[in-house]
Amino acid sequence: MVRNRGENENHRKFDLKEHIQMDKKIIGIMGAMPEEISGIVHLLSNKDEKEIGGRKYYSGLINNVKTIVVFSRWGKVAAAATVTTLILEFGITELIFTGVAGAVNPNLKIGDIVIGHKLFQHDMDGRPLMKQYEIPLLGVTYFECKETQRLNAEKIIRHLLSNKYLKDVIHPNELQRFGIHEPKLHIGVIASGDKFFANKKDKESLLNILPSVLCVEMEGAAVAQVCYEYQIPYTIIRTISDSADENAKFDFSSFIKSIASVYSTEIMKLYFASI
Ligand code: ADE
Repeated sequence: MVRNRGENENHRKFDLKEHIQMDKKIIGIMGAMPEEISGIVHLLSNKDEKEIGGRKYYSGLINNVKTIVVFSRWGKVAAAATVTTLILEFGITELIFTGVAGAVNPNLKIGDIVIGHKLFQHDMDGRPLMKQYEIPLLGVTYFECKETQRLNAEKIIRHLLSNKYLKDVIHPNELQRFGIHEPKLHIGVIASGDKFFANKKDKESLLNILPSVLCVEMEGAAVAQVCYEYQIPYTIIRTISDSADENAKFDFSSFIKSIASVYSTEIMKLYFASI
């Protein structure tokens, strides 16, 4: 078959892109709290840092894989701006987000972990122009995590939450202090929005319209939207820190320091050992 010049070039470019993506993995890691990323930053060798838009992007190698770690700040806009920088400035090929969330489903307990299978923006409502939760111009009401990412995260987190591993990395007294006994992994729906849920009434109204929601947070579905638009595989991992009601204002910082940040760092160690 004779191709004209343009066709040949397109063909060559396509091959080149595939080649680059296969060989040059660059992992972006975002955390919703500074304490959560500090343990991960410590895993970096050949470390460098660059400040863009008020955020510090730490780059380096973990197990020889190029990695960029950043504190996203809170809320959908902050998270979307951060992940866009990771994609455009640092060329990440995959994104992992770790943070905490409030439990909405009563089966979830503090210390459990959720992998976002479907991510909704619970405050997106363009009615009557479109359906509730529909993302303008994208025609979808939620974003779905790819199976490869989900299965890999599942394997890693099951290992972390196994009794022996967990007790090796977090002292049993600390687990007890936060009432954590045999924490579980859940895979399902996460709802994100610019709202901290701190009363039962708000939590129940959300559950009335989105009964499948497991937990709420403020960044995941925004990160998922940007990754979807740029076709970057992503994983959203959340540790349950509170029950999204009047008790939600408990001591976040000690939970994050003693539990959530250890989970995040250990998840990353296991992740990099798996690739
Ligand atoms: N992140 C952690 N807990 C939360 C809550 N109760 N509401 C929203 N985001 C959260």
